[in-house]
Amino acid sequence: MAYEFQNKFLHRSSVVTMYKQSTTRKPIVFLDDESAGACAYFLEEGVPKRDIHPVNGGLLNSDAITQASGIECKHSDINDHITSLPDDSHSVVWLDYTCTTIKVEVLRDALRVAPNVSVTLSLRGMERIDNEKHVRKIVKKVGTLASVTYYKGKGEVENMMSFIVNRAKTDNIPCHDDRRSLAFDTVADGKSGFEVNDSVIIAWRGNTSLTAVVLETSDDNVQVVFDCDGAVKWVPLCKVTSNRVTHADKKLDALVGKTLLVPSKLWPTKKEITGYADVKTVGKKLAFMIVKRYRKSNRYTLVGISKRNDRPLHTKENWTLTYDQACCYVKM
Ligand SMILES: C[S@@+](CC[C@H](N)C(=O)[O-])C[C@H]1O[C@@H](n2cnc3c(N)ncnc32)[C@H](O)[C@@H]1O
Repeated sequence: MAYEFQNKFLHRSSVVTMYKQSTTRKPIVFLDDESAGACAYFLEEGVPKRDIHPVNGGLLNSDAITQASGIECKHSDINDHITSLPDDSHSVVWLDYTCTTIKVEVLRDALRVAPNVSVTLSLRGMERIDNEKHVRKIVKKVGTLASVTYYKGKGEVENMMSFIVNRAKTDNIPCHDDRRSLAFDTVADGKSGFEVNDSVIIAWRGNTSLTAVVLETSDDNVQVVFDCDGAVKWVPLCKVTSNRVTHADKKLDALVGKTLLVPSKLWPTKKEITGYADVKTVGKKLAFMIVKRYRKSNRYTLVGISKRNDRPLHTKENWTLTYDQACCYVKM
């Protein structure tokens, strides 16, 4: 039987806040129970039905949720269900579990599906400190821990733990950090053989490959930010090779003077994008011009293109792009 208490409302409310914060308002996928309390709350908060995606592993429960809320509840283990969801298709995954632990693969997959993941665990019979250490270790591998709270469950015992994990944020624009230009010279001695800021090539669906930069490493995977769209992903090592390709000066110089259309979603927050009020936009992209090679390297210095007169602005951007990145955004 369902139970309602203040903490549950706080969690639901934080999920709605994360949903409303995302400009694209993608759906919320979450565990509900047979009383469909979370569905009812989201509806009350104005979340449209199409964005409410409840899941429950019990057939009777999922039927009850569908009946009570009028929203079709997916009958599945949520851990399996999220593996079938497309990348970045949701704003929040809420794993409101009744169990005591979460697998790193599940958390990784949840962050693939949504930039915000809220997890609730029971601490039944576990030491709080040990569990928190364990959770921090898992989270570190796949994302950023935004908050951890402990609270009383329905038995009035403080044995519940809730935490929010965000996808690791990238810098302003991928590769805006100059240290990355040193990546070619880095001696790879990390556990994975790669180091943060290494330029890499990722094998991608069949014969395609995409260039990316390493953000984090673990024993079997590296977390990369893709040059083409700024998406952040953990990728198994078998798909990663070093990008040691160097380009001839002639080829590098050929991009100087070109216009680039850079997707605005590469800026992680709205606040950061407000600094570009003078820059021309084309759809959801910002227009820049490559003005020169950055210190004669394989990186480029850029300026915005004025939205008033289509001419290059005077102020140089304080980030640079590699040749591979520039090729992703160059306007043909
Ligand atoms: C804590 S309740 C969800 C409460 C709801 N979020 C709310 O705000 O009222 C979790 C429900 O999901 C079910 N459940 C737990 N783990 C699950 C899993 N991995 N897959 C599917 N259902 C699960 C439980 O049996 C229970 O019915």
